[in-house]
Amino acid sequence: MAVTAVVGLQWGDEAKGKIVDLLTDKYEVVVRYLGGNNAGHTVMFGGNTYKLSLLPAGILRSNVTSVIANGVVINPAALLKEIQSVVDQGVEIGELLISDRAHVIFPYHLAEEAVLEQRRGDQAIGTTMRGIGTCYRDKIGRTHAIRVGDMYRPDYFRQRLEEVVEQKNVIIQALDPSAETLSAATIYDDYCRLAEQIAHRVTDTTAYLHKALKQDKNMLFEGAQGSLLDIDHGTFPFVTSSNSSGCGIHVGSGVPERVIDQMIGVVKAYTTRVGGGPCPTELHDQTGQHIRDEGHEYGTVTGRPRRCGWFDAVATGYGARVSGVDCIAVMLLDVLSKLDEVKICEAYEINGERTTDFPSHIQDLELAKPIYRTLPGWKQDITGIRKLEDFPKEARAYIDTVSELVERPVEIVSIGPDREQTVFC
Ligand code: IMP
Repeated sequence: MAVTAVVGLQWGDEAKGKIVDLLTDKYEVVVRYLGGNNAGHTVMFGGNTYKLSLLPAGILRSNVTSVIANGVVINPAALLKEIQSVVDQGVEIGELLISDRAHVIFPYHLAEEAVLEQRRGDQAIGTTMRGIGTCYRDKIGRTHAIRVGDMYRPDYFRQRLEEVVEQKNVIIQALDPSAETLSAATIYDDYCRLAEQIAHRVTDTTAYLHKALKQDKNMLFEGAQGSLLDIDHGTFPFVTSSNSSGCGIHVGSGVPERVIDQMIGVVKAYTTRVGGGPCPTELHDQTGQHIRDEGHEYGTVTGRPRRCGWFDAVATGYGARVSGVDCIAVMLLDVLSKLDEVKICEAYEINGERTTDFPSHIQDLELAKPIYRTLPGWKQDITGIRKLEDFPKEARAYIDTVSELVERPVEIVSIGPDREQTVFC
């Protein structure tokens, strides 16, 4: 039996989807354990491109059981739409199980988020506006939370909605008097219909996963977002509202981390970030735009241009330590191929002091000036390379430097979107 986890070590969008897809055929169970339809995974499979958000990549293989575990927040309408879009692309989807403990996103979560983000003005978190943070907030607060399992207990569900919606209307309208009044009865009817359509998939996924472990099934945990967006360990408050580092696996699935045999950290060969918050190596110049263009760095979910910069080994090394990864996969190395020279941030200077520690407060991170190691570019197309020894020596030096500074072996290098464009080191 093998239990593997794939987690992002930066601010998300590390191309985890490709690694998960490469590995999926070795696994019988693929588990998504955090986040919601804020995530975006692009998976190329069988000559087609699939844009997945809430669904685990295992869904594309009919022999894999995909699990949406308790740590995920679910917008049932978005989930059904996504399932339909995959089916419309001709995929015979595999078994999909949804945790009855997962929390549900309701229209008031989106309304509340819209008004809260708007009121923060230039301090807005820059969320994906999917009601993720407001749903997790209710989960932690308990009094306004509704879980998937609650939707199948009609009296209880109606009562909960009446209580919650009444209070949400007060809160939302206090913040925005022009906000429309939401109706508990309408939401109840809509969500009963949606719940009905997923009823056959809803189960106690924790119990299922433990049985699968007992049966020695190979299991893959598919991360979403990245370690630096982790609610506890990321660049708070410019983070997502769940534990998006490796720390989230145990909480979000009920499977103890000690059963994981291999934790793979996925990194981009450079840095990207969407939304607000500090990003020390961000480039506001032509090089930044060049990376954005070469890497097609526009958000999968929101279409927003991503902020681009040099590889930040301080931030990524911290992500690797927090997530406890055994090795790293370096993605999109080909994006840097046309540059004369490439830089890697090996330390920060904060208030005149050099440090390789990642600051815990964003005001310190905002002061961080990157100290770069500059390497010569390789200036040649590397997308056809299939063996580590065939990389130009400059690209090898770049990979080695990433490994040295992040203090983890590089085991995979990706040099294009296709499965074949992958080098196992
Ligand atoms: P939320 O998750 O929608 O609350 O957004 C909080 C922050 O996380 C924002 O900066 C988002 O841009 C970022 N974020 C959420 N999901 C992703 C993702 O899949 N990739 C990259 N950034 C994300």
